[in-house]
Amino acid sequence: MTHIIDGKQVAATVIDAVQQAASDLERTKGVRAGLAVVIVGDDPASHSYVGAKGRMAKECGFNSLQHTLPAQTTQGELAGLVASLNQDTSIHGILVQLPLPKHLDADAIIQSIRPEKDVDGLHVVNAGKLATGDLATGLISCTPAGAMLLVRSIHGGDLSGLMAVVIGRSNLFGKPMAQLLLNANATVMTAHSRTKDLASVARGADILVAAVGRPEMVKADWVKPGATVIDVGINRIDAPERGDGKTTRLVGDVSYAEASGVAGAITLVPGGVGPMTIAMLMANTITAAYRLNGLSSPSF
Ligand code: GUN
Repeated sequence: MTHIIDGKQVAATVIDAVQQAASDLERTKGVRAGLAVVIVGDDPASHSYVGAKGRMAKECGFNSLQHTLPAQTTQGELAGLVASLNQDTSIHGILVQLPLPKHLDADAIIQSIRPEKDVDGLHVVNAGKLATGDLATGLISCTPAGAMLLVRSIHGGDLSGLMAVVIGRSNLFGKPMAQLLLNANATVMTAHSRTKDLASVARGADILVAAVGRPEMVKADWVKPGATVIDVGINRIDAPERGDGKTTRLVGDVSYAEASGVAGAITLVPGGVGPMTIAMLMANTITAAYRLNGLSSPSF
């Protein structure tokens, strides 16, 4: 029987721990964790993600601030906002929602966030700590950190002897995911659009992680029997057949209908990695708040 990995349930466990840590911090130090989310422009999908982050931050007991800037915001204006959030002692986490409008240099903005407040884990200091195996003092990108908790829910913390294949090589996901898996002793391959014969590379994986942004690309014959499949894709596709007034639906990068017959464990879309991303953003925020107040952070 294929095990369906329940991202909602694992995320709820993380959120419980964050709520407890937030209330402890407030009780013992009088400090309320603060998360500032910055969004530029009016991309509806980005607004919906940012709204969900803000709602969850409130549920965790955080001071949740959203800065909504117009699409024509200049580099200087955005950099000025980040600089003031860097200085603001009531703010422990800063997230600038990506993508930014084309005229803005996103990397310069991300690199201007104080690493201690970089709850996205995208600053080179945080990326470098992860790359050198320092998982204790930096902040780790939320989606890979969440996907890793799902892997751990199946395999435990030691992946010795297991082959992991990550399809996708972005800074936001593929690269940090590969490093987390390597750090847990897996043998890791990072595959991508230029990889020759992706299907046979994927079929070698005991742990297959797909983050390519191509709807249902991973088919049954890409999956080793019994493998753990983590689907990071969120793709909206036309679904005129729904017949409930809606004409689109969300699918992952994995064909669930095909792969679930072969995998040993598999995530759903939605309800798999998605809830983990927000949970780990909350975990990073409370971690940053503890550290910025000279306390050792809880672990998740
Ligand atoms: N856009 C899509 N995912 C993310 C994320 O994890 N962080 C940020 N900042 N922007 C995103």
